[in-house]
Amino acid sequence: MIQRITLRRPDDMHLHLRDGAMLKGIVGETTRHFARAIIMPNLERPVVTAAVALAYRSRILAALPKGAVFEPLMTLYLTETTDPADVAAAHASGLVKAVKLYPAGATTNSNSGVRNFDAVRAVFEKIAEIGLPLCVHGEVTDPSVDIFDREAVFIDKVLDPIRRNTPGLRVIMEHITTSEGVAYASAGGTGLAATITTHHLIINRNHILAGGIKPHYYCLPVAKRESHRLALRKAATSGDARFFLGTDSAPHVDAAKEHACGCAGCFTATNTVQILAHVFEEDGALPQLEAFTSLNGAAFYRLPPNDSTITLTKGQPAGWPEKILTEAGPVTVFNPGYPVHWHVET
Ligand code: NCD
Ligand code: ZN
Repeated sequence: MIQRITLRRPDDMHLHLRDGAMLKGIVGETTRHFARAIIMPNLERPVVTAAVALAYRSRILAALPKGAVFEPLMTLYLTETTDPADVAAAHASGLVKAVKLYPAGATTNSNSGVRNFDAVRAVFEKIAEIGLPLCVHGEVTDPSVDIFDREAVFIDKVLDPIRRNTPGLRVIMEHITTSEGVAYASAGGTGLAATITTHHLIINRNHILAGGIKPHYYCLPVAKRESHRLALRKAATSGDARFFLGTDSAPHVDAAKEHACGCAGCFTATNTVQILAHVFEEDGALPQLEAFTSLNGAAFYRLPPNDSTITLTKGQPAGWPEKILTEAGPVTVFNPGYPVHWHVET
């Protein structure tokens, strides 16, 4: 039985760091274990141009805990007025690694996102030409579509047509939650990949709704039924290069989560690595953990894997704070609902 495992230092290929007091309060939770992260651009004032992205990057670097070695990989928030030339300049800077597509209204701070996908064709064509990946929040926003079906409908009605119309477009299906998402990513060829979160490997929709509503398990895309969770587990633990970790760790203060209209987002930065070791061990897949956390994502983003490593050991039940206390307010850390025995050595 494996009791100790060393991995290349992980990358989080989908992370919300926010800004201001929240950024300062939570960034150290990521830098403790991760070397790099793809930084989501859905700030209250979205990160829509190269200049805004570089300014945000500087604020992130200024907020790092003393001694932290961490590279924020920036993204641009796609709007119907995004200028393809600005995107190309962002790419040329070497600091912006993807464009993020939010269907307008799909999730937190997505109102400036895309309503008419034809309006952004010129950007799709430019990024296909320069090889910059498109990170896609894959849910339709049509209120007549059931929330549990929104990912599968998006794949058929939006994503597949975009990919057919834009040869060469490199796409990352962000935080997939369904067996349809796994199947589509698996069939898509070399220009397609998918991130999977930590929490979607652990919870299904019963965890949110059965025995009382659990606001800290509510995120978007919402967790689906158990068969989908099992499909995600199989994909994540398979070692298949198309699947990699994007935690989607998305801090909201408790007051915004424990609310009559609670915000979407699970905060998993603190305990993701420990929980993933548990999940992969449970599925007999510890040898594939490094591919999921540290190799597959870097390869898709055409980055070298990190040279530094982390070591996990198995022992007493691991502890982590129940909440991270920030100057913006307390943020509840994701609770997997069972003890986790893996520790990251310091
Ligand atoms: C994210 C957030 O809070 O910014 N929330 C979430 O539930 N995942 C946005 C997102 O990635 O959809
Ligand atoms: Zn997200």
